[in-house]
Amino acid sequence: MDKEFTEQTLVLIKPDALKNSLTGYVLSQLSEFHTGLRFSGAKIVHVSRMLAEEHYAEHRGKAFFPALIEFIMGRSHYPDDPWKRRIIALVFQGKDAVQKIRDISGPTNPYVAREQRPGCIRALGAIVPVKDAAGNVIGDRMDNLIHASATVSEAEREITLWFKPNDIPPLMRIFPTEVSSEHYYFKDKKLYTNYEAGSSCLVAPGDVVWKTDLDALSLLQQGKPAPCSIEAVAVKYLINNIPEYD
Ligand code: RTP
Ligand code: MG
Repeated sequence: MDKEFTEQTLVLIKPDALKNSLTGYVLSQLSEFHTGLRFSGAKIVHVSRMLAEEHYAEHRGKAFFPALIEFIMGRSHYPDDPWKRRIIALVFQGKDAVQKIRDISGPTNPYVAREQRPGCIRALGAIVPVKDAAGNVIGDRMDNLIHASATVSEAEREITLWFKPNDIPPLMRIFPTEVSSEHYYFKDKKLYTNYEAGSSCLVAPGDVVWKTDLDALSLLQQGKPAPCSIEAVAVKYLINNIPEYD
């Protein structure tokens, strides 16, 4: 494959961008004309708690984590309209894709973005006080419109978390895939190779699957240590399966 095609990055257009009708603006900033990058994946996702927590796993335990999860799930912007809770997940591909999109996105904090990089996407973001049930301010939430993978290895983890191989055109896939010869079902954070009442089918024989997922599923099924949790594998196969209304 041409070297130019060997780098991909994940972008999430966050619920604040959708609510403020900035989607078109963000997409035009990320267009091939501006970035030289190409679309290789796109989907609209109702973000489950499990997916949100896997995506931001590196921030688990930090003070801002609960507000971040509520935000990326769309619960902060659409408390009364669960059907509006969604993000747009995109994969961009091309030379230096990760760094190019980080540069156009700008600094994490929208105030810093406005100060240091006027014109970047996050310069249009906001900082919102987070309150507890009694109305006391307990921290800040950064509504910064867009997520962009921070490094090439983060991009691989994130793209294979949000996308299945067949969400990406076959000639644009850069991560190894395999064809499953097994069924894998998921229920209550457990894995099964035969159907259990109430379980969801993650993978069926003949499905094209990320090799990392198939390796992890095989290890987890045997009760051996795997490089990731069952949830980390299962979430992408459950995207948009069942709505979360809570
Ligand atoms: P992202 O992952 O969303 O693209 O953002 P990033 O790499 O620029 O920043 P990161 O450190 O990964 O933080 C992830 C998201 O957590 C929120 N955050 N809040 N209140 C705080 O101190 C704080 N720090 C981070 C932001 O919404 C950030 O986008
Ligand atoms: Mg980050």
